[in-house]
Amino acid sequence: MPIRQLPEDLINRIAAGEVVERPASVVKELVENAIDAGASRIVVTTAGGGKTLLRIEDDGHGMDAADLVLSVERHATSKLATDDLDDIRSLGFRGEALASIGSVAELTISSRTEDAESGLRIVVDNGRRIGPVPQAMNRGTIVEVKNLFARIPARLKFLKSDRSEAGAVTDVLKRLAMANPAVHFVLNGSDRSASNWPAVSGAAALQSRLAQVIGDDFAQNAVTLATARHGVVVAGLAGLPTYTRANSLSQFYFVNGRSVRDKVLVGAVRAAYADYTFRDRFPVVALYIAIDPAEVDVNVHPAKAELRFRDAGAVRSAVIRAIGEALTAAGFKASTSVAEGVLGAFSAPAYPAPVDVPGSTLPYRVPAPGPYSGYERSLPAGSGNPFSPSFRQGALDGLSEPSARVEPHVEASPAELSEYPLGTARAQMFDNFIIAQNGEGLLLVDQHAAHERLVYERFKAQLASGPVPSQAQLIPLVIELPEEDCARLEDAASELERFGLYLERFGPRAVAVRETPALLGNSDIDGLVRDVADGLAEWDSIAAVNDRMEAIIARMACHGSVRSGRRLRVDEMNALLRDMEATPHSGQCIHGRPTYVELKQKDIERLFGRSR
Ligand SMILES: Nc1ncnc2c1ncn2[C@@H]1O[C@H](COP(=O)(O)OP(=O)(O)OP(=O)(O)O)[C@@H](O)[C@H]1O
Ligand SMILES: [Mg+2]
Repeated sequence: MPIRQLPEDLINRIAAGEVVERPASVVKELVENAIDAGASRIVVTTAGGGKTLLRIEDDGHGMDAADLVLSVERHATSKLATDDLDDIRSLGFRGEALASIGSVAELTISSRTEDAESGLRIVVDNGRRIGPVPQAMNRGTIVEVKNLFARIPARLKFLKSDRSEAGAVTDVLKRLAMANPAVHFVLNGSDRSASNWPAVSGAAALQSRLAQVIGDDFAQNAVTLATARHGVVVAGLAGLPTYTRANSLSQFYFVNGRSVRDKVLVGAVRAAYADYTFRDRFPVVALYIAIDPAEVDVNVHPAKAELRFRDAGAVRSAVIRAIGEALTAAGFKASTSVAEGVLGAFSAPAYPAPVDVPGSTLPYRVPAPGPYSGYERSLPAGSGNPFSPSFRQGALDGLSEPSARVEPHVEASPAELSEYPLGTARAQMFDNFIIAQNGEGLLLVDQHAAHERLVYERFKAQLASGPVPSQAQLIPLVIELPEEDCARLEDAASELERFGLYLERFGPRAVAVRETPALLGNSDIDGLVRDVADGLAEWDSIAAVNDRMEAIIARMACHGSVRSGRRLRVDEMNALLRDMEATPHSGQCIHGRPTYVELKQKDIERLFGRSR
């Protein structure tokens, strides 16, 4: 076939494939245009998941007749004054969005500038332009997009359910709103109950907007970031290490006012929290980076969702330092890495080398101050004279609450010890670690991690033989959640019943839990439902529930570890050890961490220099 030059209309449709993927991507382009036009109030209306109708109204500077006609042409933009792509200060710059949208939908744009006598309207119906004609309206622009992809069945086929597409629109608008706290956003239409986020300003504008959009909870469980280092400004909120989610969907990244996905930033956040959170939990962050536009290339992704930093190292270290300092200031002390901590705990304390006493003629040297020389200073402030009655009283108070449970020493016969691989329990420490002894040495068991694995395996066995037995809640537990999460849980409700979780919709932003898996007892149902909702959001399909059986029961088991943080009697500890021995994979918790560590007798002897 000979080469042919493609017609304009076809070129636009091909280009639209990159920019316009689904209703949410149209909303992103149109709202970005409104922000670039200096709007202070933006109203987004959707119907049919945004497939039948998307309407974006702004009070920005509007367009005159000439601009209105040009706006729907390809490669026509008012945002690049020069041919310089290194200094982009607007959200748009490609001059493609409106042309692309107009080639795959019915696009109507009405616009009026400040000094125009009336507004004008132009229509582009799947590539064919009509107008402009006069239109009565206030200053600003109204863009309507109807029947997206209606004429392109191949694209329509890839769209998800109305609910899913509407959820994606909400998500996009949330990010745009987080990036622009000074703009008033309204989201309404038949797809959902309305959201209204009035403009916020002042020193705490970001916090207020984040509270509006993702809830007070986050703002109250986060530290504020505000640093500038080597030309990189890092602002926003970083969640406390104890406030984590089961996926990364609650991590929001903005660079120069643009919501982005970026490996450098994700990696920096992971590194900043590495010492504080478990590998499989995700801190919630809203990170705002401001940097010289010349230092980022935003022209690397058709929908501008990704970018490239010229000096990624500088950005990474600025983010790590900002979060690290804020967490430290909030009282979180960075621990050393896990491996180091464990090894250190099993090695002898390092005594400093002895020092020579200057001028001394004595034939020996004085030992350097030992590791305990700080003892007195570490007494709690105000504890006063250690010999006063009040001091002794205080000390005894503390002793009445031992932090470790020690069982009276029962001499176990060597036969009994070697009978069980995990030995017999000797003591429990920190309400979570069992110290056990077997024929070869000592074991430290993480009771929470071990129990999690046991619950998981039991769940799996129950599921294999039918629906998981459930237990009714005396009073249904009402859990408040974002509307999208409630919708996803509602959709998945009948699938979740197989797992012993019975819930139903309870108003627009809550679900009521009626029955829970019997195995979990009265554990953290609230956290469990939130984690399942996180999972559904991540997998983005109800069909996935069945394929994700293991992931769901893992989440459930995680919240069902009733024995965590509880003091156990010695028979309970031994029962747990026996359960572990009888359960497959019990050496690792469901997140892949060990459930116990073992120290052989000869290793213990080596620690004390007794090895032969
Ligand atoms: N809501 C609006 N208010 C005022 N002017 C607008 C609005 N929307 C679009 N325009 C004008 O129409 C032009 C074309 O918009 P379009 O979104 O197609 O391209 P762009 O924003 O310049 O670049 P990009 O393709 O990267 O979004 C814009 O440059 C702007 O001048
Ligand atoms: Mg644009």
